[in-house]
Amino acid sequence: MSVSVKDVAARAGVSVGTVSNVMNWPEKVAEGTVRRVQEAIDELGFVRNDAARQLRAGRSRAIGLVILDVGNPFFTDLARGAEDKAAQAGLSLILGNSDEREEREATYLELFEEQRMHGVLISPFGDITARLRRLRARGIPAVLVDRTSSDPSFSSVSVDDVAGGSLAARHLIEQGRRRIAFVGGPMKIRQVTDRLQGARDAVARHPDVSLEVVETRALSVIEGRVAGAALLERRPEDRPDAVFAANDLVAMGMLQALNMHGELHVPGDVALIGYDDIDFASAAVVPMSSIRQPSALIGQTAVEILLEEAADPALGARHVVFQPELIVRESTTAR
Ligand code: RIB
Repeated sequence: MSVSVKDVAARAGVSVGTVSNVMNWPEKVAEGTVRRVQEAIDELGFVRNDAARQLRAGRSRAIGLVILDVGNPFFTDLARGAEDKAAQAGLSLILGNSDEREEREATYLELFEEQRMHGVLISPFGDITARLRRLRARGIPAVLVDRTSSDPSFSSVSVDDVAGGSLAARHLIEQGRRRIAFVGGPMKIRQVTDRLQGARDAVARHPDVSLEVVETRALSVIEGRVAGAALLERRPEDRPDAVFAANDLVAMGMLQALNMHGELHVPGDVALIGYDDIDFASAAVVPMSSIRQPSALIGQTAVEILLEEAADPALGARHVVFQPELIVRESTTAR
């Protein structure tokens, strides 16, 4: 079986990124480390994948990251985790914001290909499989963050959003809520439909609990406000006693609408839970319960995988799925 870059790293007691640096930029690595890595290469008989190395020759010392919404702290936390891990390997991070627009997404992927980035991380909006294959053909590895690809040959780092949706709904049911509204959208976003599916799975086990869906045009504060205002226009008997917002931005908008109106109290009249557990959730006027995603860890893990694949393109794809965590605060507890 061929010796991989991971075997060399283990033998030398360094990270895969360090092995990559020794092979590509030895002048940037301590002499003792270079010697240890070279000894491990010699002892194991590691043979570099020269074709891929040629392709990577002259590669930039930067990783490209395309996120969906730079205004969403979930993605900036993810970018921070990715940047910290990239810096440990002596690389920079170039951030692109697709703004959930396919033409912008394509522009960044073209730019990162032209610049022969060290690798690309992306939270995709459209179907980008063909573009990812182009990058791979140019020796540029790509890893999906917070999403998975229709092509499983591309590694991914994501969270089990179905489990997260179930956690949120079960918590509301345990708090005695019986008329739940799921607020989020558009339904083309896989995270939204997975979270909704999880909520449906939880509610299905409770015949006395109802679940309605209020679809929004985006996962934003404004859309949360619009949905909150619409709930307030209903007759009292038609209103939910709990809202599961598909992410914290929608939940923040919902909270603003209910608070401004003043007629409905959170959580007394309506319990409210969000998703992501961004910093604003705990700092909200009514500290918000949420489903925590390890956003920085997602970014760090994606960079680790990317560096390993950049150093050894023969490595097979890996799909890391983290488990979400329920964070309980005032917006769902007191009655
Ligand atoms: O794309 C928007 C949402 O998806 C974020 O809020 C985060 O939940 C991500 O998974």
